[in-house]
Amino acid sequence: MTEFPRCDRSPTWAALQSHFQQSGRAFDVRQAFAADPGRFAAWSLQAPEVFADLSKNRIDARTLELLLQLAQDVKLESQREALFNGDPINATEGRAVLHTALRAPAGQGPFSDEVQASLDRMLAFADRVRDPAASGVTDVVHIGIGGSDLGPAMVVQALQSYVPAGLKLHFVSNVDGHDLAPVLRGLDPKRTQFIVASKTFTTQETLANAMAAKAWFLSSGGTDIARHFAATTSNARAAAEFGIDTTFGFWDWVGGRYSLWSVIGLPIAIAVGSANFRALLAGAHAMDQHFRSAPLEKNLPVLLGLLDVWYRNFHGFTSRSVAPYHQGLRRLPAYLQQLEMESNGKGVDRAGDPLSFGTSPVVWGEAGTNGQHAYFQMLHQGTDVIPVEFIAVKTPNFGAHVEGELLSRLQDQHVKLLANCLAQSQALMQGKTAEAARAESAPTASKDLDPDVLARHRSFSGNRPSTTLLLEALTPSSLGALIALYEHRVFVSGAIWNINSFDQWGVELGKALCNSLLPRLASGDATGLDGSTAGLLAKVRG
Ligand code: F6P
Repeated sequence: MTEFPRCDRSPTWAALQSHFQQSGRAFDVRQAFAADPGRFAAWSLQAPEVFADLSKNRIDARTLELLLQLAQDVKLESQREALFNGDPINATEGRAVLHTALRAPAGQGPFSDEVQASLDRMLAFADRVRDPAASGVTDVVHIGIGGSDLGPAMVVQALQSYVPAGLKLHFVSNVDGHDLAPVLRGLDPKRTQFIVASKTFTTQETLANAMAAKAWFLSSGGTDIARHFAATTSNARAAAEFGIDTTFGFWDWVGGRYSLWSVIGLPIAIAVGSANFRALLAGAHAMDQHFRSAPLEKNLPVLLGLLDVWYRNFHGFTSRSVAPYHQGLRRLPAYLQQLEMESNGKGVDRAGDPLSFGTSPVVWGEAGTNGQHAYFQMLHQGTDVIPVEFIAVKTPNFGAHVEGELLSRLQDQHVKLLANCLAQSQALMQGKTAEAARAESAPTASKDLDPDVLARHRSFSGNRPSTTLLLEALTPSSLGALIALYEHRVFVSGAIWNINSFDQWGVELGKALCNSLLPRLASGDATGLDGSTAGLLAKVRG
């Protein structure tokens, strides 16, 4: 495989460090707006389906120039081509990374014939299950974890208004029986379709839940396992051994956290129908094309990825908060945690050499406005600066059942939602001086306190960076584009850092230790264990 240079060994890295010392550290977004009335136009961008306002970030033309030079130094464009061409860029597993091929139109992209055949078969099955007259199915229980859960669960929730009345989709992931038990309550086995989703078909949680679901199915009068259980996996043999005949296969070049576009998307297709699933793919493909062809300085995934590098490696920010102002996107932060932190939470470069700089930030968040009433206090006045990413949707879609006065009320609430979203990014940037705080009345404040002390409690430093992403509406196509935007942005920062964004060895140690602890939970044997684990073992058994 071609070797790409390390970012921290390029002279541009040092130039960025000194640029940060000279002006980046003290950069004030408010002054930048005062000095440049065209800042919003200069730092905003319309990508397919996603408008992005980057103007409230701590970035100027010189920063961007250097970051773009860094991208050139590490041959970002060649790395991008290696991705799209299907080179084995996941070198530690000897695999290509071709989720983009899954959303390429027929006849385009690698493995097109196989991809289209698999898609057609999966969509035909999905449309059949979706049609209650044909299938009799009222409930779909999807069992999977990590990439075999987070993407489908997030998308189905986001596109709830496309799900027909009378069809419910349930997602079970945790090995904790408290996940499966409430889902099964009240289900009729004759009207339930189970999908066991596991790329490897070896994952402890998924197999345990699938086994429990099968036992429940048989003991509740279910008779036709072949009809009521399907598997989405690249290990058809293991699924067959489990007793599942209806299997939708996929390939090792689809990474778990990039798999919602493959047959792992089956619950999405059942929920929204084949035409909408194709629209999801088309939206993602439009973003793929943008990423592949737009000049780097007008390329949204590239700009966001470079900004991530600027914040992580030069400002030293260790986390980024994601605030989707749409209830349907409330699982997006959880989905992004896997996408970004499993991809880029790495400590060595592609050659296995330790890195001297930070990689994945902590990604976290909650739907707005709920987050405002929980942790936004810390974003506004805490000691750490945390860049925030707001995601707003211009036009709501409450579903066909919402009409009349309810519709006009909910539309009005949507205006409030948007006002909140805009106000938060404004407040983070603007801040409030102690003088301004002092000049204001504060009816709930203590009258006994020195007004200067009180003003210091009520002031905000401001200059806290944020990005706002805006969708016209939350549709299959815009959601596809948004997710692909995040995938490519993660690719960009991973490419700059020269890490393998597509393996996940860090989850293995815990799995292995769990397997060796399991028999000890039964036997109580603590031989050779560290003191804490031995003590806890005794406690949980006692
Ligand atoms: O534990 C990590 C992981 O391997 C993820 O990368 C993956 O998405 C998840 O487990 C589930 O794996 P599988 O689809 O093979 O069950």
